[in-house]
Amino acid sequence: MNNVKFPKDFLWGGAIAANQCEGAWNIDGKGASTADVMTAGDKNTPRRITMELEKNTFYPNHEAIDFYHRYKEDVALFAEMGFKTLRVSIGWSRIFPNGDDDQPNEKGLQFYEDLFKELKKYNIEPLVTLWHNETPLNLVKKYNGWASRELVDFFTKYCETVFNRYKGLVKYWITFNEINALMRPLGNWNHGAILHEGTKYFIHQKDDVNMRFQALHHQFVASAKAVKLAHEIDENYQVGCMICYITTYPLTCNPTDILKAQREDRVLNLFSSDVQVFGSYPYYIEKYFKENNIQFSRNEEDEKILKEGTVDFYSLSYYMSVCTSEESKEEKVDGNIMGGFKNPYLKTSDWDWQIDPTGLRWTLHHVYDRYQIPVMVTENGLGAKDSIEEDGSIHDDYRISYLRDHIIEMGKAIEEGVDLICYTPWGCIDLVSVSTGEMEKRYGMIYVDKDNEGNGTLERKKKDSFFWYKKVIESNGESM
Ligand code: BG6
Repeated sequence: MNNVKFPKDFLWGGAIAANQCEGAWNIDGKGASTADVMTAGDKNTPRRITMELEKNTFYPNHEAIDFYHRYKEDVALFAEMGFKTLRVSIGWSRIFPNGDDDQPNEKGLQFYEDLFKELKKYNIEPLVTLWHNETPLNLVKKYNGWASRELVDFFTKYCETVFNRYKGLVKYWITFNEINALMRPLGNWNHGAILHEGTKYFIHQKDDVNMRFQALHHQFVASAKAVKLAHEIDENYQVGCMICYITTYPLTCNPTDILKAQREDRVLNLFSSDVQVFGSYPYYIEKYFKENNIQFSRNEEDEKILKEGTVDFYSLSYYMSVCTSEESKEEKVDGNIMGGFKNPYLKTSDWDWQIDPTGLRWTLHHVYDRYQIPVMVTENGLGAKDSIEEDGSIHDDYRISYLRDHIIEMGKAIEEGVDLICYTPWGCIDLVSVSTGEMEKRYGMIYVDKDNEGNGTLERKKKDSFFWYKKVIESNGESM
């Protein structure tokens, strides 16, 4: 027994995203998205972006784990674990195959209606991300993605369609997954759907900083419009932002390191949610724009929209922390979006991501101090290789220990007053990794029989973490 207490209606669950699990990439009228043209890679081989599909090349998101056809079986497993919520995303190109179509694709709309009804059958509350790392491919070709203002209207139309259709079935929405990924060059393609001449790989992308900030601005405006619209369509809708929080410590107590950490934290972690929670660009960012010679267009009408569309809750993904320093000779660690200097007090995952449960508690206080609105941890977890015993069991004690340590810190943050209302660990069922395209970088409590080359039966198996998490939920966090 553990003495941390979670509120009685705490939303325990898990998180997945359409392009990483559904598969059925060109079925029932779905159009291709940015996720469908990325090849497989691994820790040392970057994923390639091929605007035309190549014969004999493996595209892992095309089939993924075939959640599209197997969602009933998967939802039953989530229900068996006792999930109160499931974070899913809607594939925009399943609803509007080209992004700029006049009419939505009925079969796509029906799929999500069926999925949400299936969840409701087990009293699982859907938590729905409107945009999770995929933009209809046609919008890249025709408009250069989010660099164009037209995307704001296309996205708004898509939001209006799904807000109307799923009224009564959904309560919680998230506008953009990890919107702050656009603060870094990696965000060009995966988040901005901008393909620069010469970009071939998911990592090492060409960068146009003005275009990237223009894209981010368009997403801020699109997000604010979506929030306003959601509230108009259904007053029960709650809409949140979602930030990839990479907690950044000063490497030393040298005041210059402290200042650097503060600067990076503000710009990389806090800036985007400052805009989405407070409804305007914060004071400190103007100097950053000036210093980096960043110029893009924003107007008075945009400012009004940002003010009118502030979010109801704050959500974050938290996997790791990094250190920063003015010195540059220290050892480095990796990360999903950004690496940093190695922290001598922390261990790293097999993919070199630094494991830091205490950093989660620090971060929860940090954001709640600032925003004073309900907080959700909508991604967290350990990507690791699993092996199956002869009797079919999977002993993933490393994953249990990662999750347990983070849950304990969340419990403490709640006791200390943070209004944390939800926890959806990432990839509760194994799925395709974003950064590497691998299947064998597994986060799940449910194993999926599929390897990095796409071989396997797709059979689902319960890992030890499945039974462990079930007990955690059953006891509302008391038994860990
Ligand atoms: C987050 C994304 O950045 O990290 C997820 O929102 C992603 O979509 C997750 O899968 C883990 O990253 P990766 O690269 O291990 O899949």
